[in-house]
Amino acid sequence: MSNLEGIARHFNLPHAEFDPAWDSIMLAKGTRERLLAQSLLSFTVRQKLPFEAAPMHGLILLTGAPGTGKTTLARGLANQVAKHLKGTKCKYVEVDPHALMSSAHGRSQQAVAKLFEHTIPEMAMDGAAIVLLDEVETLAVSRHQLSLDANPIDVHRATDAALAGLDRLTREHRNVLLIATTNFPKALDSAVLSRADHIEEIGLPNLLARREIIADTLKAIGKVWTKVSDLEAQADRLAKVADGLDGRRIRKEIFSAIGSDIETAKDPNRLTVTQIEAAFKHSLKLQKEMAA
Ligand SMILES: Nc1ncnc2c1ncn2[C@@H]1O[C@H](COP(=O)(O)OP(=O)(O)OP(=O)(O)O)[C@@H](O)[C@H]1O
Ligand SMILES: [Mg+2]
Repeated sequence: MSNLEGIARHFNLPHAEFDPAWDSIMLAKGTRERLLAQSLLSFTVRQKLPFEAAPMHGLILLTGAPGTGKTTLARGLANQVAKHLKGTKCKYVEVDPHALMSSAHGRSQQAVAKLFEHTIPEMAMDGAAIVLLDEVETLAVSRHQLSLDANPIDVHRATDAALAGLDRLTREHRNVLLIATTNFPKALDSAVLSRADHIEEIGLPNLLARREIIADTLKAIGKVWTKVSDLEAQADRLAKVADGLDGRRIRKEIFSAIGSDIETAKDPNRLTVTQIEAAFKHSLKLQKEMAA
């Protein structure tokens, strides 16, 4: 068994690769600041008080529909927190819950325990560690909802191990901040929800955010195909049409619009507002049909 089983990657923060992550996700006013402040609490207030007086677990949970920017934002947040912790060595650790839970025959339980009790604390030994638990429901499936018939007993055990491990890690290592994301807060064990110091619901982008996402995407395309920059002036109109789409979908549909016909695909400078509008409308229609 590798020493780093269940870890997708790890490196020191701040990391230049994560700089764009923080700015590229457009959010309602105040969200970014709130997230950063709540995360910093973990290293300031939490470290100075005993757990009994300050039952802070150093767990920030980002919930929301697929494609709303949770994973990207979590990475950006980790990077920003590290920038504010000047003078503290800060390690970034990205957990791969799928790899952990797919271990065969009772191994998941051992692997999860080892991750929380040895691997992560070791990473935080000479400073702080910021850990991304992406799609955390994979790791801590609600025991309440698991049927013993349908699910192998190993999943129950691994969930128990994850919760026990999380509990010990967060009590004993007050220099570890966990940033978790989930699309399915309902599938998440309530013990995890209750341990979160802060839960931020990342909703679908509002009008202003949609406008910014559209302008940002057009600007990026305009760097190569300069005529596309002219469409930025129509971002308001497009943002209204995109109501109901998530940020990932909005960006994707602008590219999809470039593929509306062969001429535009060959020369994106030909892209029109009408093509983008049609792509947004098509996507919304599809979304509606799939939900029906
Ligand atoms: N609010 C937003 N502002 C700007 N871009 C966004 C926004 N939301 C999503 N995106 C775009 O969608 C991409 C994918 O986002 P990300 O993978 O972080 O979403 P997610 O919420 O983690 O999705 P999933 O739940 O499917 O894992 C981002 O890199 C970004 O380009
Ligand atoms: Mg994600």
